[in-house]
Amino acid sequence: MKIEYYHDSKYGNGAAVAEEFKHQMAAKGASVNIHAVKDSDAKQLPPADLYVFSSPARLGSPTSSVTSFLEELDLPEGTKYAIFTTESAPAPDKKTGKVPTDEELSKRQRVIARMNSILQGKGLSKVAEGKVHVIGIKGPLEEGWKKKVAAFADSISGQ
Ligand SMILES: Cc1cc2nc3c(=O)[nH]c(=O)nc-3n(C[C@H](O)[C@H](O)[C@H](O)COP(=O)(O)O)c2cc1C
Repeated sequence: MKIEYYHDSKYGNGAAVAEEFKHQMAAKGASVNIHAVKDSDAKQLPPADLYVFSSPARLGSPTSSVTSFLEELDLPEGTKYAIFTTESAPAPDKKTGKVPTDEELSKRQRVIARMNSILQGKGLSKVAEGKVHVIGIKGPLEEGWKKKVAAFADSISGQ
C-alpha cells in the first residue's frame, strides 16, 4: 500500500505524528511519503492507494492553508482518504470542573467536519479519521499519543 500524507504543522506536533504513522505503517508493509501542504501542489498529487490529510485546529477549523489545499485538489471520485488532526487537549470547564465530552466539543470544534465536507463534496471516499491532542498550543503531544497513531494505522491497514 502506498500512502501520501499531507500536513500543515507549525510547532512540529503534527509532523511528529506523521513520522510515527510512517514508522508504524512501515511495520505493516505500507510506504508513507510525508509532505507539507505549503510545499505541495494540490493539482499534482502523486498516485497513491490512500491520501492522509492532517491539520492543526485554528479557531475550531482547519488552517487556511489546509482548507485551500483541499479545495484545490483534483482527484478522481472515489479516491480514498483519511483525516488526522492535532487539537488542544480539552480543558475542564472553569465553573463545573468537568472536561467537555466529544459531543459537546464537536459543536465548536469543526476541524474534521470541515475537512470531510470539502473532500466528500468532491466525491472522495473516507476510510478513517482521528485526532491527537496536544497540551496547550505548542505541545507536547498528549501522553499515550502513539497508541492513538496505532489505532489510526490499524483502521487504515484493514482497508
Ligand atoms: C491561532 C491559534 C488558534 C488555535 N485554535 C485552536 C482551536 O480552536 N482548537 C484547538 O483544539 N486548538 C487550537 N489551537 C491549538 C492547535 O491545535 C495546536 O497549536 C496544534 O495542534 C499544534 O500542532 P503543530 O505543532 O503541528 O502546529 C490553536 C493554535 C493557534 C496558534
